Amino acid sequence: MRVTIVGTGYVGLVSGACFSEFGHHVTCVDVNDEKIKALKAGDIPIFEPGLDSLVDRNVKAGRLDFSTRLADSVGASDAVFIAVGTPSRRGDGHADLSYVMKAAEEVASLLYGYTVVVTKSTVPVGTGAKIEEILMEHAPDKEWDVASNPEFLREGAAITDFMHPDRVVVGTTSERARNVMKELYRPLFLNETPVMFTRRESAELIKYAANAFLATKISFINEMADLCEQLGADVQDVAKGIGLDNRIGKKFLHAGPGYGGSCFPKDTLALLRTAQQVGTPLRIVQATVDANDNRKRAMADRIIAALGGSAKGKRVAMLGLTFKPNTDDMRDSPSLDIVPALLKAGATIHAYDPEGTAEAKKLLPDITYCDDAYACMNGADILVIVTEWNQFRALDFDRAGDLLKNRILVDLRNIYARGEPQAKGFEYYGIGRGGAASSIAAASLTATDS
Ligand code: UDX
Repeated sequence: MRVTIVGTGYVGLVSGACFSEFGHHVTCVDVNDEKIKALKAGDIPIFEPGLDSLVDRNVKAGRLDFSTRLADSVGASDAVFIAVGTPSRRGDGHADLSYVMKAAEEVASLLYGYTVVVTKSTVPVGTGAKIEEILMEHAPDKEWDVASNPEFLREGAAITDFMHPDRVVVGTTSERARNVMKELYRPLFLNETPVMFTRRESAELIKYAANAFLATKISFINEMADLCEQLGADVQDVAKGIGLDNRIGKKFLHAGPGYGGSCFPKDTLALLRTAQQVGTPLRIVQATVDANDNRKRAMADRIIAALGGSAKGKRVAMLGLTFKPNTDDMRDSPSLDIVPALLKAGATIHAYDPEGTAEAKKLLPDITYCDDAYACMNGADILVIVTEWNQFRALDFDRAGDLLKNRILVDLRNIYARGEPQAKGFEYYGIGRGGAASSIAAASLTATDS
């Protein structure tokens, strides 16, 4: 099969590379000339484990190429995937569909032979119908169908998620479009991955509902963590204890500083706006969003409380800035709330992130960036783990203790077992681990309320 992917961002590039690995011929198109030049030269613009070798292998095999011109490939394609951005519209939180619509118009003018136009971008319910209107207007005499095929890729694990998904969702009622999509995903069919065909509107909503549900699980366990701190319970045990019930499931019950990234914050807001528009308020999703916003803001208060109530003149050693490990993505990262609040409270920050530094420097210019974890500890008053990169999971506490002014560790990701840092003389503050943590939790809750 021949495939064009419009938009060579995170989703477009990963999907294009993976379809070419399935044996299809894929052209990834982007308006950004520099990006395409870089890709042609073998430079991958994002950090995603395994992506560079996947791209390299398929480019060399002649199955994957890059272009700035849709006209080079759309006409010959069996399927055209629209994978351009749908950012939150400034002011109202609706998904901004201008890039999607522009792409659809351009594609329409280039169609030749039967083509399935597929939305891969996360788009509000009804977008497929709008694209259909555009195609009717601009390509009335051509043969095409519009399908929805949402992605469920996690950054840092995107290739595995594409190759071994829990399910593939395709929204179309056209038999002809189904056959094209079946052929595209044939290797997964053979692996017995569930491939669901639904109405287009259902597929569009599945993506939003999945993300909103996962976000809700996180906000739920984060609130339980706050409660654990007040009641002397341990959220790790509570999460395990409830997660072993198959009806609940153990994933996405890891308490932390609040969810960030390119999907959950944006998609939950867009879903709320869609629901408002049709007069169906989503109270649970709204509460999830509010709890997460408050939580991110409350994290700096925890650090200040662990410093004894004031950050003035204190130096904070911060490990991790990205919204999660194995990515260089800083979008909606909790660090974007934590760092400014600490600076405002009079602290200085020395930080280290294995991959996020370049991006972080643009967003958080007022901190000192260090070359490794220990370099930022030198002379610091407190050590804070914001992102759970693997290399922070086995810190040398003796070395850290010698470098730090005070042996205080705030672990916002609970990557250390109870008692482990304490055995090395550290005051340890995790998340939702009653007892020792309760005093700073109480302080931070008061600070948030006021
Ligand atoms: C998410 C969805 O998982 C994916 O299916 C969708 O297509 C895009 O959005 P991603 O944003 O890459 O993927 O990361 P994910 O691993 O889901 O984590 C999102 C955020 O939630 C991160 O900030 C992470 O730290 C946080 N999180 C996740 C928790 O705080 N606790 C958890 O238990 C899981």
